[in-house]
Amino acid sequence: MNNEYINMIRSKVDIVDIIGERIPLTARGKNFFCVCPFHDDTNPSMSVSREKQIYTCFSCHATGNVFQFLMDYEHIDFKEALKYLGDRVGIDTKNIQIKKTSSKYDKLYEAYQLSLKYYQNNLSSKEGKIARDYLANRKITDDLIKEFEIGLSLDKKDDLTKLLSSKSYDLVTLNQIGLSSDNHDIYHDRIMFPLYDVSGKVVGFSGRIYKDNNQNKYLNTKETPIFKKGELLYHYHIAKEEARIKKSIIIMEGFMDVIRASSIGIKNTIALMGTAMTKEQLNLIKRLSNHMILCLDGDEAGQHAMLSIGENLLQVGLEVKIVMIPDDDDPDSFILKHGKERFENLLSSAINYRDFKIQTLKDKVDFRSDEETANYINQVIEETAKIDDVIRREVILKRLAKEFDIGYNTLEMRINSFLKENQSKEEVKIPFQNQEKKNKYTKAFEQILFFMLNNDWVITQVEKERVMFPNEVMRSTCNEIIYYYKTYGEIHLADFYTYIEDKEKIKELINTILTCNYNETTNKEELGEYFNCVKEYTKNQEIKRLTNIMKKEMDPLEQAKIAEKIRKLRLGDI
Ligand code: GTP
Ligand code: MN
Repeated sequence: MNNEYINMIRSKVDIVDIIGERIPLTARGKNFFCVCPFHDDTNPSMSVSREKQIYTCFSCHATGNVFQFLMDYEHIDFKEALKYLGDRVGIDTKNIQIKKTSSKYDKLYEAYQLSLKYYQNNLSSKEGKIARDYLANRKITDDLIKEFEIGLSLDKKDDLTKLLSSKSYDLVTLNQIGLSSDNHDIYHDRIMFPLYDVSGKVVGFSGRIYKDNNQNKYLNTKETPIFKKGELLYHYHIAKEEARIKKSIIIMEGFMDVIRASSIGIKNTIALMGTAMTKEQLNLIKRLSNHMILCLDGDEAGQHAMLSIGENLLQVGLEVKIVMIPDDDDPDSFILKHGKERFENLLSSAINYRDFKIQTLKDKVDFRSDEETANYINQVIEETAKIDDVIRREVILKRLAKEFDIGYNTLEMRINSFLKENQSKEEVKIPFQNQEKKNKYTKAFEQILFFMLNNDWVITQVEKERVMFPNEVMRSTCNEIIYYYKTYGEIHLADFYTYIEDKEKIKELINTILTCNYNETTNKEELGEYFNCVKEYTKNQEIKRLTNIMKKEMDPLEQAKIAEKIRKLRLGDI
C-alpha cells in the first residue's frame, strides 16, 4: 500500500468535518459527541477526537479513522473512501495501488456473479421467449431488464449446478450458496430478479412465476452469510446517491414498484420486499435522509404497515410522510394506469404521518355509541399530544371541539395530561451497555498496549522489559506497534489504523482497548506497577504449567526437583 499518500490525504482532512457533515456533533471538552450511526442509539455514545483523528463508540465499540468511518457509513470500500477524500483535497488517487483485501466470502460473491450472467443469457435465448413476452406484457422494457439485470431460470434443468461445478465449486459449497441443493438447481422456470446488498453486490435472487401455476409467487434465496434478507433493502445502493439530490427517500413494498418508479425517473426509492421493517433496515434507512415518504400498497395490509413503520421512523427522529395510493393499487399498477404526472401529484400531496394516523383512527368508529365516540376523541388527543407544534395542536383541538360540540377547555386539560406523560417518558434514558468484566491481568495488558499507542517512550520500555503478552493477538498487536514505530518514527493513531486495515483480529482488539476508558498517559513509576502485574501473571502461568508437569511425573526425584522450582518461583527467587 502507498501508505504515504494515504496518510497525506488523511492528514489534509479533519474527521470532525467529515462526520459533522453527516451527523450533528456537540463539542464537549476536547472531543465532539454524537449519536452513533452504527447501532440503535439514542444517546450521544460516539466521541470524535480532533487531536487523534479517530472516532470511538463507547456503546457498540465502533472505532476507526476517517476512512473506516466513510466505509461503514457510506457502505463503500477503501478505494472509494480514498477517492472521495482525495477529490476533496485535490489529490489524484487513480495511481494509488491498494491491495485488494480478499474476503472469505469471495467464492460466494463470485458464484452469484456467474449465476447472474447465466440467468441473463437464458432470458435472451430462444427458451426465454415466453418470459420475455410476460415482461413485455407487464411493460418491463428491455432497458429496464438491463438496468435491473433481470434473468430467467430454465424449466427443470440443472444447468446452473453443472456450470458452478465446472468452476470447481464442490457439493458442500454449492449447498451453502443457496442456488443449488444436492446437485440440483433450486430455481426452475422463474423470472430472476437479483437482490443486491447495500454496496450493490448481487447476494441473492427473488424468482417470480410467470405462467399460471399454483406455486408461491416469489421464491427468495435462502439466508447465507452474504444474504440476510432483514439486513438489506432493495435498491439501497442506488437510492443512497439519489437521496442526496432529492433529499428524501420513498419506501415501497415490492421491487416491481421500485422498478416501475425508476422507469419514470424516480430513483430515490427502496423496497422492503414485504410489509415488515427490521431494526437493521431502520438503521440503514435513517442514514440516507431525514425525510421519509412511505408509499406502500393501497390495501389494508399496506395501510396497517405504514402505521407501525411510520411510528418506528418517527421514534428515531425522522420526518415521515404518507402517500395513500387509491383503489388497492400499488405504485407499480398506479403508475401503469395513470402515468408519471399523476403519480408525482400523489407524491407531492403526501400527508404528515400524525395527520394520517388521526385520520385512520376514525375508520372503524361507530359514532352512535357514546363510549366509542369518547374513546375516539381521547385517542385523537393522545396522538395530537405527540405533535411538537403548538399551533397545529390547537388547530386540531379546536376542530375536534367544534365537530363534537365539546368545550375547548376540557380537551385542553386532557392534552396537558398527555403532554406531561410524554415528557416524563423522554427523561428515561437508556443506560450505557455494561462493560464485560475483565480480570486485572487482561486490564493491565490492554492498558499497556493503550499506553504504547499514546506514548512513544512506553514502546521502548515494553521492548526493554520484554513484556510477554498472554495471547497471539496481543503479541502481534504489540509487535505491530513496535514495528510501526520503528518504521515511521512515531505513532499517529489514525494512520496506524490505515496500517492495520486488513488485520482483522488486531483491529478488533484495538477497538476494544480504545473504547474501555483506559488512561492515556502514564509515568515510569506507574508503568512499573503495570509491568509487575504482568510479571505476576507470567509467574502464575509458569507455576500452573510446572504443577501440571509435576502431576504427570512418575519419578519422585524429578517430582521433587519441580516442586523446588515451584517453591522458588512462589518466593520470587527466579
Ligand atoms: P407483482 O405481483 O409481481 O407485481 O409483485 P408486487 O411487487 O406487487 O408484490 P406484492 O405487493 O405482492 O409483494 C411485495 C413484496 O413482497 C414482493 O416484492 C416480494 O419481495 C414479497 N413477496 C410477495 N409475494 C411473495 C411470496 O410469495 N414469497 C416471498 N418470499 N415473498 C413475496
Ligand atoms: Mn404488483
